[in-house]
Amino acid sequence: MKRALRTTTRAFSGRNRRSSSQLAHSDAPFPQNPVVVPKMPPFDYSPPPYSGPSAAQILHKRREFLSPSMFHLYKNPLNIVEGKMQYLFDESGRRYLDGFGGIATVNCGHCHPDVVAAIVDQAKRLQHSTILYLNHAIADFAEALASKLPGDLKVVVFFTNSGTEANELAMMIARLYTGCHDVISIRNAYHGNAAGTMGATAQSNWKFNVIQSGVHHTMNPDQYRGVFGSDGEKYAKDVQDLIDFGTCGRVGGFMAEAVQGVGGIMELAPGYLPAAYKAVRKAGGLCIADEVQSGFARTGSHFWGFEAHGVIPDIVTMAKGIGNGIPLGAVVTTPEIAQVLTHRSYFNTFGGNPLCTTAGHAALKVLEKEKLQENAFVVGSYLKERLTSLKEKYEIIGDVRGRGLMLGVELVTDRHLKTPAKTEILHVMEQMKDVGVLIGKGGFYGNVFRITPPLCFTKEDADFLADAMHYSLSKM
Ligand SMILES: Cc1ncc(COP(=O)(O)O)c(C=O)c1O
Repeated sequence: MKRALRTTTRAFSGRNRRSSSQLAHSDAPFPQNPVVVPKMPPFDYSPPPYSGPSAAQILHKRREFLSPSMFHLYKNPLNIVEGKMQYLFDESGRRYLDGFGGIATVNCGHCHPDVVAAIVDQAKRLQHSTILYLNHAIADFAEALASKLPGDLKVVVFFTNSGTEANELAMMIARLYTGCHDVISIRNAYHGNAAGTMGATAQSNWKFNVIQSGVHHTMNPDQYRGVFGSDGEKYAKDVQDLIDFGTCGRVGGFMAEAVQGVGGIMELAPGYLPAAYKAVRKAGGLCIADEVQSGFARTGSHFWGFEAHGVIPDIVTMAKGIGNGIPLGAVVTTPEIAQVLTHRSYFNTFGGNPLCTTAGHAALKVLEKEKLQENAFVVGSYLKERLTSLKEKYEIIGDVRGRGLMLGVELVTDRHLKTPAKTEILHVMEQMKDVGVLIGKGGFYGNVFRITPPLCFTKEDADFLADAMHYSLSKM
């Protein structure tokens, strides 16, 4: 391995840099490894034959009746008709390993029997009533959820239908509580796409030219591309600068993902959050942790992403993994901060409905019963090792990062210049799909693989995913 790395480094530091396709792989240091088509681990389930419309028919209808802005993955988009745990099936019954988990959402596994049973049972009794009547589902789930949070974070202020809604509510609470409109978020963040959250989202790809007031974007503590490398405290100085030079000296809040998901699985540099929180609190602001992607055991080492940074936020927002695919989000805060919503009426028709909160409660029980946080840690650490060793083989891999089952692989055509391999990534993704592995992609330049599978992923699945990436890169 050492020899391979040295060879790789030399190739890039020399005058005669090779073209991107030549860079894609170097078999020379690994002559003993002919790359064979990897085999999917066995799985004891075959879906019943599918008799619905074909992919082509659905695409046609989608183009006619749905927004032209809707995009899809792959040249020929997949028609996914069934899911079982970490696997998905297309219209022909072909099985795929799901390395994306419906974008870090299906944490327990597709159609987990416990979650399905709870949903079916609840749907038969009562699907919807609103919080104007009592029902035990919302109260029981709120109690269970609060028990997973540290410190005084004990009140589930509201259940919502999405992450955007949860973040909108959190921003409003921070503004109301502090009496201050200014909010700080981090460049490269994704927090949603409604009026307030689009302001907090800090990537031009996801921002329309509509009024987004009162959000300031601070330097991204990006350990791969950032000017201060992994020195979190240096980046946090920019939070203080923003407060001093961009606001009246007081702020309403600060919102951050512990691991930027849409931004390309970017873990905030160590030491950043404690220093940023300190500056924000000194300026009277509340600290909001957006746990929409990194929450619910995904990062393996902790249940919540912020815990790895040794901070306790004032408000935590969540969605995605909370409901294993059911539309559900939540905002959790302290009893004192929760009081601000009593000054007027806040209402959400679907928020906290019995069906969704029952699903959320069932999903939480599965995470605990099946020790999925531990599994995310063990299998995720193993997968990260496998991907890191691929980096030694393929110069196109610029960075492997993340924790647990929230991993990123950044492709670059030049390791020194970190030139995003935007076209190459599409090719590798197609190849991996053809082998039977689905993963996501993201990052500002769209050159980062996002690996966020269901947390029931096994070591064999991890091997298959890494082998499929190895095989696909070897075909470049
Ligand atoms: C970190 C983060 N926050 C908020 C959101 C918005 O969630 P939703 O798409 O459910 O509105 C997302 C969505 O990807 C996200 O990744």
